[in-house]
Amino acid sequence: MTSPIARILKDAIRTIPDYPRPGIEFRDITTLLGDAWAFRRAVDELVQPWAGSKIDKVAGIEARGFILGGALAHQLSAGFVPVRKKGKLPSATVRIAYSLEYGLDEMEVHKDAVKPGEKVILVDDLVATGGTAEAAVKLLREIGADVIAAVFVIDLPALKGADKIRALGVPVHTLMSFD
Ligand code: PRP
Ligand code: ADE
Repeated sequence: MTSPIARILKDAIRTIPDYPRPGIEFRDITTLLGDAWAFRRAVDELVQPWAGSKIDKVAGIEARGFILGGALAHQLSAGFVPVRKKGKLPSATVRIAYSLEYGLDEMEVHKDAVKPGEKVILVDDLVATGGTAEAAVKLLREIGADVIAAVFVIDLPALKGADKIRALGVPVHTLMSFD
């Protein structure tokens, strides 16, 4: 992360020690979202590699991926697909269990959320262990999506989550790293 823009965006992220568990340094994007310039610029930087490309859907992971995903979908003139924690979606779903840096959970997506072969970009605020994004890629593929990329504001490279997503054959684009 070397560009002046990336440095300014990184400075807009707040770190909360020992949240939600002792030993976790929580990278809080609410401060970036509350800064009009930083929020717009982060969205612009996330979509930049696909400017002018035909993207059918943006899939956002609950909850923070929803905030970014709506903005990305608008920028790309794409639809939006919510990848939700279990029990929240009203129609028929596929479900998967997964682990993340500080816990275990299950997520779902509507079975009819994409048409077979549709090009989908996955978005979340942060990739840590990659357990969450890996599960989302598997769900999206199960319903027929062509997941062409996964994008995140923040990478925690020590936890090797981005490598896990690349190993699935999905290119990863991140804006900044925290050691
Ligand atoms: C956070 C973050 C990612 C995930 C990353 O979500 O927004 O979705 O953890 O961790 P991983 O790479 O180790 O899987 P969280 O489950 O805390 O949900 P929230 O957005 O609803 O707070
Ligand atoms: N999700 C998983 N690890 C996280 C962290 N360190 N900060 C914010 N969200 C996270």
